[in-house]
Amino acid sequence: MSGSPCVNIIGAGLAGLSAALELSRMGISSNLISSQPSERAQSVMAEGGINAAMDTMGESDSVQAHFEDTVKGGVYIGEEDSIRGLTQNAPAIVKELIALGVPFDNVNGRLIQRNFGGQKKKRTAYAQSSTGKLIMSALIDEIRKHEANGLVKRFSHHGFESVVTDDSSCCGVIIRDLFTLKAYELKGPVIVAAGGMNSLFPGLTTGSVANTGDVTAYLYSIGVKLSNLEFIQYHPTTAAIEGKRFLITEAARGEGGRLFVMEDGKQRFFMEEKYPELGNLMPRDITAREIASQEGGSCLLDMTHIDKSVWNNKLADLRGHVKHYLGVDPASEYIKVAPGIHYFMGGLYVDRYHKTSMDGLYAAGESACRYHGANRLGGNSMLGALYGGRTAASSASENLLSGPSDDIREVGIPYEYTDFSVPQSVAEPLARACAITRNEETMTDALRELEELDPSAFTLKDRNRLLLSEAILTSAAGRRESRGAHYRTDYPERDDTNFACRSVIAYDNGHHCLEFDKGKYL
Ligand code: FUM
Repeated sequence: MSGSPCVNIIGAGLAGLSAALELSRMGISSNLISSQPSERAQSVMAEGGINAAMDTMGESDSVQAHFEDTVKGGVYIGEEDSIRGLTQNAPAIVKELIALGVPFDNVNGRLIQRNFGGQKKKRTAYAQSSTGKLIMSALIDEIRKHEANGLVKRFSHHGFESVVTDDSSCCGVIIRDLFTLKAYELKGPVIVAAGGMNSLFPGLTTGSVANTGDVTAYLYSIGVKLSNLEFIQYHPTTAAIEGKRFLITEAARGEGGRLFVMEDGKQRFFMEEKYPELGNLMPRDITAREIASQEGGSCLLDMTHIDKSVWNNKLADLRGHVKHYLGVDPASEYIKVAPGIHYFMGGLYVDRYHKTSMDGLYAAGESACRYHGANRLGGNSMLGALYGGRTAASSASENLLSGPSDDIREVGIPYEYTDFSVPQSVAEPLARACAITRNEETMTDALRELEELDPSAFTLKDRNRLLLSEAILTSAAGRRESRGAHYRTDYPERDDTNFACRSVIAYDNGHHCLEFDKGKYL
């Protein structure tokens, strides 16, 4: 069987769907490959909203202000050319989502936008506190049209095995049907949109452990470059529940929630005291560190003063979820919160066209590293996934194989079962060293522990996860400064002379090769 040139997309969350939609609009076929169906992608869990300077609240917001906040939030190492494109395209992206039927909160058709961290303007468009779910529903529905017209072929419940290379360029992918366990080769360029590396941090993250980081880990093992791995975002307000951290959306503070500790029988609003301008909505890195430095590493969130109409109209989902998972009604009781791992600013290094360091291979969404520098602003992740997905699609469309390529070939590759979660012997040292505050000793100790493990006792996937964990620690140990989410007690200051740039790491001949790359606008 043969057909037309085709692009393979690994991951069917927001970035993957955005890529498939862009390709469909160009009349190009794509294979949408994912171990879980779109309805269970991490993107569905995104709560608070999506940023776009649309100035619907009469605050003289502008694209320039969104650009500047994003650059500043990322502590000046986000890629400015790409941030320019991201912020310029944001209003059109939100309008397009509205046209696709996303029920953003509005009054008589006028979009209502809310405050989010690190931004002085109300810039975050939202649909209650289920924004990701509602955007995903609209995109899934839109993609169905293209499944019906044959442009998008779904491979749900298919795991990624490897890329196929020809003369070190990527020209296809091997995937495995997770029901039959048969493996198949698909030809064509590949876009990786497989999400973050949550399962390296079992129990400590708001994300799904189905986001294993395995695609990134495998690509690293074959020499594809990664960037900014040291920047791991702790969301300030999460709560422990069985097996993960429960996210209390930043919208809680965007709608007036206040962080405090009890002192001498009184509430002390430590963020408002120390940061009078942005208060509870300081960027996540700063807020998370301030909470972690309180006694017990946690604080309380007071939402009891929030108006009934706000609860009913803007935060009803959050209230329901908090009642259900934490057994507390936030409208009348305080919630105990502490920081939890939420987002990976680092990932596959991509240039402004979303090309990785391997020809024929592209990346978007949380798998890629481009927009967020040392710290991502809340509300910029869904935007980055949507914009990055379409940018990667447009680049991949220029690299279609000349011959027919949507044929599928079964290949005999042995199956090796591997759990979602990384072995404890890897997870424990990694988590210890990647805490909110770090230092040379904790990181080099953890690296030594990982190096002493016997990889031959691991499955191939676990060996790759071990390599990726070592790459994270090598990057963190190498950045001898504090910047954004990477805070070192032994180097507490920002060092613009040596480190105002991305880190890039490659695995070469059994060595982790780290460099700090000052090149701009690649
Ligand atoms: O707090 C939140 O709702 C998270 C949003 C985000 O990470 O962008």
